[in-house]
Amino acid sequence: MATISLTFFGKRLKNPVMNASGTLGYSNEIESLWGVETLGAYVTKGLSLRPHHGNPTPRVWDERSGMINSIGLQNVGIERFFDEHFPFFQKKRTPVIVNFFGFTEEEYLDCARRIKPDRLIVALEMNLSCPNIKAGGISFGKDPQTVYEIVKKVKGITPIPVLAKLTPEVKNIVDIARAAYEAGIDGLTLINTMPAAIVDIKRKRVPIKGGFSGPALKPIALRAVYECSKAVPVPIIGVGGIMDADDAVSFLMAGASAVQVGSATFVDPYAIPKIIEGIGRYADKNGCRNLHEIIGITHE
Ligand SMILES: Cc1cc2nc3c(=O)[nH]c(=O)nc-3n(C[C@H](O)[C@H](O)[C@H](O)COP(=O)(O)O)c2cc1C
Repeated sequence: MATISLTFFGKRLKNPVMNASGTLGYSNEIESLWGVETLGAYVTKGLSLRPHHGNPTPRVWDERSGMINSIGLQNVGIERFFDEHFPFFQKKRTPVIVNFFGFTEEEYLDCARRIKPDRLIVALEMNLSCPNIKAGGISFGKDPQTVYEIVKKVKGITPIPVLAKLTPEVKNIVDIARAAYEAGIDGLTLINTMPAAIVDIKRKRVPIKGGFSGPALKPIALRAVYECSKAVPVPIIGVGGIMDADDAVSFLMAGASAVQVGSATFVDPYAIPKIIEGIGRYADKNGCRNLHEIIGITHE
């Protein structure tokens, strides 16, 4: 039998599958169907220094090849998360990746500073798709110099490994990955959603503008993983349109050490446990003893 466990930043994960940030609540929301201890690691919803209300409804929209969300980063804030939700993961002994963001550089730093090292915290995941209100709302992740500066500062204030989660809405994502690497990033999460909109032709209105995710994002995410994994020597978590185990294996082959699953859970709430099982089945069927025999093995 293949082992699909891995060591990630020195912590043992039982498998390479995580939920994507913002798609599985704060902690126990999926418990009536399956337990979070099933995951390699649980990724928190995006957390900020202070609670944030988010956007008016509609906040999600079903689209032919994926979905649009306009949650607007609503969250209870970093302190309430640690008071009310973190004990659940301690009880479940489930590794956690803390996704966080800020609307200013100082907010990123203050938020990262409040997250204390814990044996269950595998890494912090910086969401760099957030608008910088001091730079006219342009997201931090769009400019290599801005990415370099913010990553360097965050790395300087936390002893916890840091992943940069990058936006695909850039000229060349490899340049952004390189800037993060030069600033000392420990790993990358690729990719966040693409900006999108819907037009309601009956009402002649745009009912939602937001981030597009799901199957149509997969080839874009795969290319980002493939190219960045060749350009920077840090672990990569692949995310974008993973709907089944074959999709997950394709990300591992492209160079991801682990994967995250988001929109698939909206289609089938059991998608994650099915994907975990399917990766094990793939490895057994193909005579792979461990994930190292799959990760990054593809070429042109
Ligand atoms: C409803 C929803 C909420 C999300 N919230 C966050 C968030 O808070 N922080 C973040 O970094 N990404 C967030 N994302 C992006 C996902 O984590 C993921 O990068 C993206 O959806 C692509 O993966 P998928 O195609 O498997 O959904 C969210 C996505 C969805 C659909």
